Amino acid sequence: MKSLLDAGLPVASSCDGDGVCAKCKIVIIEGQENLSSENETEAFLKEKNNIPRGTRISCQTQVLGDVTVDATYW
Ligand code: FES
Repeated sequence: MKSLLDAGLPVASSCDGDGVCAKCKIVIIEGQENLSSENETEAFLKEKNNIPRGTRISCQTQVLGDVTVDATYW
């Protein structure tokens, strides 16, 4: 989420990155291997909100390398 905001891209959120709303979800197009593993908060949010594989909760995900992403609200 911070990387997206730092790049000037809008990120949907109603919890300001606290890992509650799941609105900050992003679709990973390329570079899944360059993201941190899912933490417990992300796994819970994805299960609770039926968020598919290939989509990550951006405020709970660290970027470790090049990644191409998309969002339904862009
Ligand atoms: S901003 Fe709410 S869960 Fe990520």
